[in-house]
Amino acid sequence: MSFTHPVSRPWLGGRELDYVTEAVSDGWISSQGPYVRRFEEEFARYNGVAHGVACSSGTTALTLALRALGVGPGDEVIVPEFTMIASAWAVTYTGATPVFVDCGDDLNIDVSLIEEKITPRTKVILPVHIYGRRCDMDAIMDLALQYNLRVVEDSAEAHGVRPVADIACFSLFANKIITAGEGGICLTEDPRLAEQMAHLRAMAFTKDHSFLHKKLAYNFRMTSMQAAVALAQTERLDTILELRREIERRYDEGLRGIDGITMMPPRDVLWMYDVRAERRDELREFLAAEGVETRLFFKPMSRQPGYYDADWPSLNASRFSEDGFYLPTHTGLTAEDQEFITGRIRKFYGAA
Ligand SMILES: Cc1ncc(COP(=O)(O)O)c(C=O)c1O
Repeated sequence: MSFTHPVSRPWLGGRELDYVTEAVSDGWISSQGPYVRRFEEEFARYNGVAHGVACSSGTTALTLALRALGVGPGDEVIVPEFTMIASAWAVTYTGATPVFVDCGDDLNIDVSLIEEKITPRTKVILPVHIYGRRCDMDAIMDLALQYNLRVVEDSAEAHGVRPVADIACFSLFANKIITAGEGGICLTEDPRLAEQMAHLRAMAFTKDHSFLHKKLAYNFRMTSMQAAVALAQTERLDTILELRREIERRYDEGLRGIDGITMMPPRDVLWMYDVRAERRDELREFLAAEGVETRLFFKPMSRQPGYYDADWPSLNASRFSEDGFYLPTHTGLTAEDQEFITGRIRKFYGAA
């Protein structure tokens, strides 16, 4: 089904085509050449972090981060119940075990529930800034210090939120705040972690390319063409965030006071505009018939076949996943689009 108002659409309003054309004209189409480095430097500079390591996706960024920190079989990683499954899968890919913690009312990991999940096997806490809301990073970093743990921030949905963890991992998938079509990047202050992630990303080749590989590694490289798009997007990140702030403001205004809609707390940066709704599934069908695409909230991790746990209460995550969904949210969304969408929602609930 194609929608007049898709939930997401890339916004390529800058120098993307110029840079891609330059990369292709210069023959730099693999992961070699200047664009990957330029993107890594520019994105790291924007975030005020020393090192960037670009890779093929947000999922592979998380995998590289965990591997570089030495996470492997026998280890445990604290992961939120309410997240996209890639946060947990990255842990499973390393051979370690994700240990899930329920979310608070802002959908982010409930920091007060983390400590009881820490065991002698715990190595990393992996908070996720859900839908662009920053986790309570001060409290998480304090806990990590207290228990000698490392922290990996899953910032897939939060470009513009300043990283503070050992490593922050971003997705550049087409529906993200900035995109390369597909792609990811890890940021860190630690040059050894950066070097390790770059090494693991590129098949653990030695510098002399002797074809001796001392570690099990990956081909998680980003191509120049992806980096060319990502660089152009990074140059416009401030503008993109500003436009998205305006989109959030307009949705706030258009949805305020509707009986049946529960607004969510404000976001630090807007990835997706999330709401909770009475008769949600009926509303979604009604909107779909009007050409408006929406998406459900994430399903809790302990309700996923791969991590199913019949005993786990995950009270908040389950509660939110039952009535939450998000509305079309992309940088090019216009005031008219939003007026139409909020107007349809008002009509559904018979609101003035
Ligand atoms: C919170 C979160 N983590 C990780 C990912 C994985 O990113 P990617 O799709 O680029 O692998 C996503 C998005 O898909 C996400 O929303």
